[in-house]
Amino acid sequence: SSVTIPPPACMLLPLEVPNRYLFGPGPSNVPPRVLAAGGRPIIGHLHHEMYEIMNDIKKGIQYAFQTNNHMTLAMSGSGHAAMECAVFNVVEPGESVLVSVNGVWGERVAEIAERMGAKVHTLVKAPGGYFTNEEIEKALAKHKPVLFFLTHGESSAGLAHPIDGIGDLCRKYDCLLLVDSVASLGAAPLLMDQQKIDILYTGSQKALNAPPGTAPISFNDRACHKMFNRKTKPVSYLFDMTHLSNYWGNDGKPARDYHHTGPVSGFLALRESLLFVISLFQGLENSWRHHKEVAEYLWKGLEDLGLKLFIKDKDLRLPSVTTITIPDGYEWKELLAYMIKHHQLEMTGGLGPSIGMVIRVGLMGYNCSTSNADKALAALSDALKHCPKRKA
Ligand code: GLV
Repeated sequence: SSVTIPPPACMLLPLEVPNRYLFGPGPSNVPPRVLAAGGRPIIGHLHHEMYEIMNDIKKGIQYAFQTNNHMTLAMSGSGHAAMECAVFNVVEPGESVLVSVNGVWGERVAEIAERMGAKVHTLVKAPGGYFTNEEIEKALAKHKPVLFFLTHGESSAGLAHPIDGIGDLCRKYDCLLLVDSVASLGAAPLLMDQQKIDILYTGSQKALNAPPGTAPISFNDRACHKMFNRKTKPVSYLFDMTHLSNYWGNDGKPARDYHHTGPVSGFLALRESLLFVISLFQGLENSWRHHKEVAEYLWKGLEDLGLKLFIKDKDLRLPSVTTITIPDGYEWKELLAYMIKHHQLEMTGGLGPSIGMVIRVGLMGYNCSTSNADKALAALSDALKHCPKRKA
């Protein structure tokens, strides 16, 4: 037997990776020290030094989430891995789940819960809409879910959803509160324990400025009680918290067994990025303040260009990802392509239900500065001057 498929010629060319301003909703630019951490030597995923690094990551996540939860870890995978892990572990087939859908993330969770056999109920608003506590309470009373899902940072719409009081409602109706903070963590105020969030997750590639591929997640005692007293096994072996809690040294057993090989470089970079969130702005509260100030500077600059912001109420705007209503007459794809070509600068269009409605600008963590806001504004202003108006 001999090989019949020749080596691909393209692979003999050098690897080309452009330097870009990643001013979309993520991934964001990764600071040199985080990139360098990811480039350190590989060690075994079960070496004791790796366990120490994982223990540090847990502490870093506890700070970033503002939680004392013991059951805190990072998923090997993107934010979707954390999303699936949460749903797969706390919900059993046939149980009722309530999902708020006001953008793409609720749509995803509803589909994930449906696929694993949950009875899914949705609370639906158009992108940019939010749910009042009264609306949420009514739905909790009606559907008696075991889990309620809410997106804190709705990156497809640019909305920061209010959280206060929802944890209390979920406790009143004996339901777990699951919150997605992929696009908001580190950029907008969120206090897991104080706001009574039962399960919280985020992604590495937004305001944390780590490479994509790891996803911090934390479960409180209520969530642990539900997921470790189930009658059926979760549908996923990889995301089974019985195994993951052992892999992360959270289950009280003396030894950590082999479950899967974690992304060693990704964890090294994540550890550095969690330190970075502490050191870059001297702590979370300063980071929140800084993101708000830079966002307000950007919003004013966008309005000065004659653009309209998609979220009208300033208090509901996500500071990390700003949504701009597509200006009349323009093809949004042409504006984005112009900025990539002439400014090496990425913004993106909408996602899921917001496609064709918005252009999104993200200034997150390391990228969040007024000088980067100026770069984004200059690129957009140039694109508006040079791209043709297609419609009246
Ligand atoms: C992805 O996370 C996005 O908001 O586009």
